[in-house]
Amino acid sequence: MRLIPPTLEDRPEVTVNTAERYARVEFTAERTLSKGRSMATIAWIGLGLMGHPMTTNLVEAGHTVRGFDLSERAQAAAVADGVVGVGSAAEALAGADVAFTMLPKGEHSRAAYLGEDGIFAHAAPGTLLIDSSTIDVASARLLHDEAAAAGFEFLDAPVSGGIAGAEKGTLTFMVGGAVEAFEKARSFIEPMAGNIIATGGPTTGQAAKICNNLMLFINMVSTSEAAVLADRLGLDHEVFYSIAKVSSGDSWPLRTWYPYPGVVDSSPANRDFAPTFTADLANKDIQLALAAGEETGTPLRLGEMVQGMLQQVADAGQGGRDCSIVRQLVDESFPS
Ligand SMILES: NC(=O)c1ccc[n+]([C@@H]2O[C@H](COP(=O)([O-])OP(=O)(O)OC[C@H]3O[C@@H](n4cnc5c(N)ncnc54)[C@H](O)[C@@H]3O)[C@@H](O)[C@H]2O)c1
Repeated sequence: MRLIPPTLEDRPEVTVNTAERYARVEFTAERTLSKGRSMATIAWIGLGLMGHPMTTNLVEAGHTVRGFDLSERAQAAAVADGVVGVGSAAEALAGADVAFTMLPKGEHSRAAYLGEDGIFAHAAPGTLLIDSSTIDVASARLLHDEAAAAGFEFLDAPVSGGIAGAEKGTLTFMVGGAVEAFEKARSFIEPMAGNIIATGGPTTGQAAKICNNLMLFINMVSTSEAAVLADRLGLDHEVFYSIAKVSSGDSWPLRTWYPYPGVVDSSPANRDFAPTFTADLANKDIQLALAAGEETGTPLRLGEMVQGMLQQVADAGQGGRDCSIVRQLVDESFPS
């Protein structure tokens, strides 16, 4: 794993953008580093593909991270990089200033926060609670309401940037909730972030993330279609890639997930589509967008098509592989 603690060279500036009713504040790297070095005890629930590298950056910044994952394997990997492994969410919360959750879906976040063994039952008063999972707006709303009823400050703060951004500490955080809680959260988020953006009131972080990922997965499929067509028209992949990335076809999935091997280092195609972002989680995200489209009367025709392709991957029992495997649906090499 590539572990890059934030440095002046890597991150010349961290910008905190605040929307409308929030004041715009910019932080220099110097301030970021000094803030990152102030020690805190952080509870972290969910040490998977994203949670593990995110916690590594918190550890590198000098924080104590008490981590818990239901998967022993996931937890052991994070412990090897400096996280203090504990046996339950309640144990992770002991003495914590702030608790982050980084879990797959709304049902997992609800389970982690609610109920007898949940975070609301075990967090000490005053613990700031931050859910960075990508979840449905209704679950986020429920967690905001239950947190308020239990007297906790809570933020929905999903992220963008993939595992590469998680490793480099350059994720974009989209943070929904009260401005006071946002201000408190900022110093804890900084070691993991390139951008920290206050999106507005409760659930607006999730709304931003859902809309962003609708574009991401449509772009993933458009990149796959173009890559397959370019191949069949006799273009070399590297030549086509080098053109598209400086032309109007450029996109994040093009640069990060170019779906043929040997072109982009970070592409899962180099590793037989071992996951960086599983097709199942991509399917979950695009279904969140479709549900939001239905609720708001917004036609999402391309979104529906892309969801159908990700569903095909899931139905074939391949949902644990990287979402960029959709390229194999386009060139018809997908294992049937
Ligand atoms: N992978 C990416 O590139 C990426 C990028 C941005 C956002 N996200 C979002 O971030 C979230 C996490 O994604 P990921 O790729 O790390 O998923 P992941 O499946 O790799 O990790 C989730 C972890 O949560 C653990 N878990 C589930 N329920 C738990 C519980 N109650 N207590 C403790 N641990 C529990 C699982 O064992 C797993 O290790 C998802 O919502 C995803 O949509 C992922």
